Amino acid sequence: MDRWNGKVAIVTGVSSGIGEKIAVGLVKHSVKVVGLARREDRLQKLSVKLGKDHFYGIQCDMCKEEDILQAFKWVEKELGGANILVNNAAFLSLNLLMDTPTAEYYKTIETNVIAPTICAREFLQSIKKRNTCGHIVNINSIAGHFAEAIHVPVGMYAASKYAVTALCSELRHEIIAANLNVKVTSISPGLVRTEMVQDFIANLDVRTLEPEDIADSAIYAIGTPERVEIHEITIIPHGTPIVDLNSSLQTKQ
Ligand SMILES: NC(=O)c1ccc[n+]([C@@H]2O[C@H](COP(=O)([O-])OP(=O)(O)OC[C@H]3O[C@@H](n4cnc5c(N)ncnc54)[C@H](OP(=O)(O)O)[C@@H]3O)[C@@H](O)[C@H]2O)c1
Repeated sequence: MDRWNGKVAIVTGVSSGIGEKIAVGLVKHSVKVVGLARREDRLQKLSVKLGKDHFYGIQCDMCKEEDILQAFKWVEKELGGANILVNNAAFLSLNLLMDTPTAEYYKTIETNVIAPTICAREFLQSIKKRNTCGHIVNINSIAGHFAEAIHVPVGMYAASKYAVTALCSELRHEIIAANLNVKVTSISPGLVRTEMVQDFIANLDVRTLEPEDIADSAIYAIGTPERVEIHEITIIPHGTPIVDLNSSLQTKQ
């Protein structure tokens, strides 16, 4: 991680779960973190925990393009631009597609697909302008690879995560074509014990990962030598099948 010492990372969805742990991990390695999320109180708490010269919280709704553009402008003006982008914020609804109002479809696609794409565009333009190197980490999901095997309703979520898988490939193609020195990594976890799934797992006897497990993998991918690019990391709880979430779920007795 030495090459990123003193550099800036933008982490979206930093107010809880995986995003928060990635921010903690990056700061531990002397990376300055700009964390985006909507919950101001959580951002403040994290700033106190990590220190205001190490963590900069910016209140940002990922469904509002102007919020995202303002945050990127601020990073460029105040910190000289970012070298690491972690697209982590996402929205999951367990409502059935056939019962869901259209607004919720849009919310899922805006948060999980459009926002990371806007972030990637702003990030790459800044990297190009500054003629520097960078790394984009997209927090994906096993739902972005194995939807057929997930027998619990996840509404528009799997469709949005398949789009993240495709986005990673498209970004890599464009980066190579533009001769930019930027890596792209997709990290695809199975069930992780976070607020996103807390209601879902509350009554289930199910093996889960912890958010630190995913943060560790992000730090590993970001810390690889310049010649190495980790394309995809799939992480599942030990002792569970990768493609049959249903068979690993049992209601608590
Ligand atoms: N938990 C799992 O089982 C699991 C499995 C596979 C993949 N993942 C992926 O892991 C990533 C992190 O999720 P998590 O499990 O850590 O869930 P989490 O604890 O609920 O965190 C979600 C984060 O996203 C932020 N967010 C959501 N909508 C936002 C919006 N419109 N604008 C700004 N921020 C927004 C939330 O912040 P605010 O509410 O403060 O805005 C929060 O910080 C997601 O990409 C998720 O798809 C999770």
